[in-house]
Amino acid sequence: MTIHIGAAPGEIAETVLMPGDPYRAKWAADRFLDDPVCVNEVRGMLGFTGTWRGQRVTIQGSGMGMPSLSIYANELIRDYGARTLIRIGSAGAMQDSVNVRDVILAMTASSVSTPSRGIFRDLNFAPCADWSLLSAAAAAAETKGVTAHVGGIYSSDVFYDERPDLNEQLTRHGVLAVEMEAAELYSVAARHGRRALAVLTVSDHLLTGEALPSADRETSFSDMVEIALEAAFA
Ligand code: ADE
Repeated sequence: MTIHIGAAPGEIAETVLMPGDPYRAKWAADRFLDDPVCVNEVRGMLGFTGTWRGQRVTIQGSGMGMPSLSIYANELIRDYGARTLIRIGSAGAMQDSVNVRDVILAMTASSVSTPSRGIFRDLNFAPCADWSLLSAAAAAAETKGVTAHVGGIYSSDVFYDERPDLNEQLTRHGVLAVEMEAAELYSVAARHGRRALAVLTVSDHLLTGEALPSADRETSFSDMVEIALEAAFA
């Protein structure tokens, strides 16, 4: 048991999927895992461990934003021995070529800051995905016929952004989408020699104002979870 995770030693799998929303963790565990058991309820940040095709998997909520995700990623790695951590979440598209419902596989994540930023002082560390996970996820998306874009994303500290000029520059530089967690997940995983990837569903579009209709959410999120699971055990 850690400060933020109530699971007993051994109750967390080496492979962990991390949605921001704890209720999405419950939904994904019920839908995709065999014999899911709730292993964490501390602060309502639900976590479940079960099996997928006979392999142990934990699905643990991360909360929103990098400070929250950082707490869970650190404790999952340092106290429970997690080896593969895959964020599953939503993102806002920043390119015309990206559509609502598409999947984004984040090769790298730009940021203004992360909880790990202080370590590097003047250096701009470039957090990146694990190649084996990234390539396996791209292959899984292709097999499923899901449109997936591989490239850079922006991990923002703010949802209600008062700096549209920064988003414009990121769009100009080919950044695919914005979310709020991946850069810190990649940094923490790199620090501990663990594998990490963010598999994201485009839920809204910053350029067109379009949003994913709620009726389509379940199908889109299911594709994302399946791609993450296929990648983890490829
Ligand atoms: N996650 C999903 N959509 C987002 C947006 N527009 N900004 C930040 N994070 C997001």
